[in-house]
Amino acid sequence: TKENLKICCIGAGYVGGPTCAVIAYKCPTVTVTIVDLNEDRIAAWNSDNLPIYEPGLDDVVFACRGRNLFFSSEVDQAIQEADLIFVSVNTPTKKSGIGAGFAADLAYVESATRRIAQVATSSKIVIEKSTVPCRTAESMRAILEANSRDGIRFDILSNPEFLAEGTAIPDLMYPDRVLIGSLQTPEGIKAQNVLADVYANWVPKEKIITMGLWSSELSKLAANALLAQRISSINALSAICEATGADVDEVAYACGLDSRIGPKFLKASVGFGGSCFQKDILNLVYLSESLHLPEVAEYWKQVVTMNEYQKSRFLERIVKRLFNTLTNKNLAVFGFAFKKNTGDTRESAAITLVKHFIQEKANIHIYDPKVEDAQIEMDLCEPGIATPEQYKKSVTIFHDPYEAAKNADAIVVLTEWDEFKTLDYQRVYNNMHKPAFIFDGRLFLDTKKLQNIGFQVEVIGRQV
Ligand code: NAI
Repeated sequence: TKENLKICCIGAGYVGGPTCAVIAYKCPTVTVTIVDLNEDRIAAWNSDNLPIYEPGLDDVVFACRGRNLFFSSEVDQAIQEADLIFVSVNTPTKKSGIGAGFAADLAYVESATRRIAQVATSSKIVIEKSTVPCRTAESMRAILEANSRDGIRFDILSNPEFLAEGTAIPDLMYPDRVLIGSLQTPEGIKAQNVLADVYANWVPKEKIITMGLWSSELSKLAANALLAQRISSINALSAICEATGADVDEVAYACGLDSRIGPKFLKASVGFGGSCFQKDILNLVYLSESLHLPEVAEYWKQVVTMNEYQKSRFLERIVKRLFNTLTNKNLAVFGFAFKKNTGDTRESAAITLVKHFIQEKANIHIYDPKVEDAQIEMDLCEPGIATPEQYKKSVTIFHDPYEAAKNADAIVVLTEWDEFKTLDYQRVYNNMHKPAFIFDGRLFLDTKKLQNIGFQVEVIGRQV
């Protein structure tokens, strides 16, 4: 790596924060400044209580913060000083206008790009870290070139991020691959090499792969679509298992031993969540439609449809087993994050399920080891979920699972937090209304043990 290389990252979120903190950690001679318009978020990054929960993140940040890692809201200054600029801002699904509900909202990417063009006083390598539709780099280049000062050059790279929340730090330390896309011109390849050299500080050379910009951009959408498709496939099979008496875990095990299929990511569940899978598939659907490929669009759309179906199937099962009414019943919801080891709730299955529990007039007791109370309230008071009055009337947040389950008619497990496996379920059972139900939406509790205690157990993908 060039001596005294300076990196700026625009967007201090789930991706920008951990990614660039690991770069700082692994490259002590590189200065990394992570900026964000959100001052509260920057203040939190500069405090003892980081704004996101990710195992191992504290150690990385505390080791280099103030040394070669800085968090700042001085966006312009960081842009001016940097050689390399990561654009790692959010790209949510558009809520209105053309492509609403499918297309990516590129307003944040564009405004960050315009800012770079406006304030840069020297040449830069600009790196797309956000997940973007194919050919976004072209738009970025048009904006940069039309707005920059004379004599300044911008090279654009695509460097999609493959980390998974909950395992971000190991994923970044030991990635399966690092992907860098560039224009296949001499300048493009030179820029590609500068970034590859940064990663080469800790990533084996053969895992750093390079290709054209469009392939790189599409690879990220494709990888997420394929991952989500596996989940929807096993979930579709789980419905057949429940109807026939087959066991989805056994089926997944038998299939996963085929080396062409492989065992990972074949766990049935209440459905996938998170900020990426659904958004990126919808993005791919929109792209396919724009390219006049309706059959392709329809194919990928089905992955999301199946995910919604999985959630509604689980809800129906809960209502049915609870004697067809949830009115005034106490439901303990175990887990609100979209998966374990994160406090992130974006697109969490829990939001959909709790919304319906509210509509069924249940009393809902929520416990999650990491999600902040304010986040739960914000998610559930969104328009289309519940009104603040409904929320107040129906939802109570607990900080102890035993308290949450006290006097409950049923426990609904929605996040696979390890601690849910080791609770004293006899104690839980003793304090519940009878018959005491437990609905395992993650298919990870010891069914036999729970039944021996006396629970009525319902599991995704298996008749009990
Ligand atoms: P996030 O919402 O946590 O963070 C984005 C940050 O960018 C926010 O803090 C926002 O204030 C800031 N921002 C927006 N516009 C800005 C501007 N013009 N100047 C300065 N700051 C600005 O989003 P997250 O989860 O980090 O995702 C970022 C991108 O990475 C998205 O495109 C996402 O699809 C992609 N991605 C996300 C993964 C994940 O696990 N969350 C994994 C891989 C990719």
